[in-house]
Amino acid sequence: MQTWTIKALLDWITPFLGDKQVDAPRLCAEFLMCHVLGKQRIELYTQFDQVVPADQLAQLRALVKRASDHEPVAYLVGKTEFYSLELNVRPGCLIPRPETEMLVQHAIELLRTRKGQQSVLDLCTGSGCIAAAIAHNVKDAHVTATDLSQDALDIAAENCLKHRLSERITLLQGDLLSPVASSPFDLIVSNPPYVSEAEYAVLDKNVKEYEPREALLAGPKGLDIYERLLLQVESHLKPDGVLMLEIGYLQGPDVVSMLENTSLFSHIQTYKDMQNHDRLVVAIR
Ligand SMILES: C[S@@+](CC[C@H](N)C(=O)[O-])C[C@H]1O[C@@H](n2cnc3c(N)ncnc32)[C@H](O)[C@@H]1O
Repeated sequence: MQTWTIKALLDWITPFLGDKQVDAPRLCAEFLMCHVLGKQRIELYTQFDQVVPADQLAQLRALVKRASDHEPVAYLVGKTEFYSLELNVRPGCLIPRPETEMLVQHAIELLRTRKGQQSVLDLCTGSGCIAAAIAHNVKDAHVTATDLSQDALDIAAENCLKHRLSERITLLQGDLLSPVASSPFDLIVSNPPYVSEAEYAVLDKNVKEYEPREALLAGPKGLDIYERLLLQVESHLKPDGVLMLEIGYLQGPDVVSMLENTSLFSHIQTYKDMQNHDRLVVAIR
């Protein structure tokens, strides 16, 4: 009978996932092996010749099969990394994307220029990734985070506990700003659903079949949530408050004109991501 070492398994799983068109197959293989073996990635390489016992082989085989069907590896292992924080994720919440770190970076830089306690609102918090990253990095920030989905908020609550942030992050369930008390915020941030119907129809299988539809889709042009959010924002933003919105790469001009139409903001600026796509709009009151 063949004995399977860590190296032999990695060398078998990687091309197997590659043949099934799974993105970054080597990384996926490593994440699944780390999860099953309870090891760090570096240990896979320092323990290349270790033989993997039969019970762990069976667990691994089942996970590799699911990954080959394009089930996201972050869901299979129950965690992901965002802004250097390890966060729990499950199918009830969107898997945080690296491009959202740009919004967090702008938020942290802004808050660090301001004195005293800062009140932040994170609308559509999902896993709580934005709220957690801001609260972790800005010690005088108190973040209120909302979501329509109680499943997502349960995961966000786990992430707040995991990083000892529960005292500075308040989680509220409800539609956009409706669960939020009327006191205004220094900063409102959001990565809301912004996928258009046409874009949704052609999303990759790993997103469309596994991540929550209500976390992604926002009407025919993907602009529905921005429109509703901007109708509610005025009474929730301080006179020198700032609004930061993640946007789809084609939505810059539309979202900027929606912001201009509110006549609330003195300065509106769009920022591009690493792929040179519009990704963030910052509006200063
Ligand atoms: C694109 S996901 C973003 C999640 C997280 N902020 C992130 O960056 O990964 C959008 C989130 O908005 C939530 N959502 C959708 N419609 C909403 C609404 N009307 N009010 C509040 N939250 C909503 C979804 O449940 C989902 O968690």
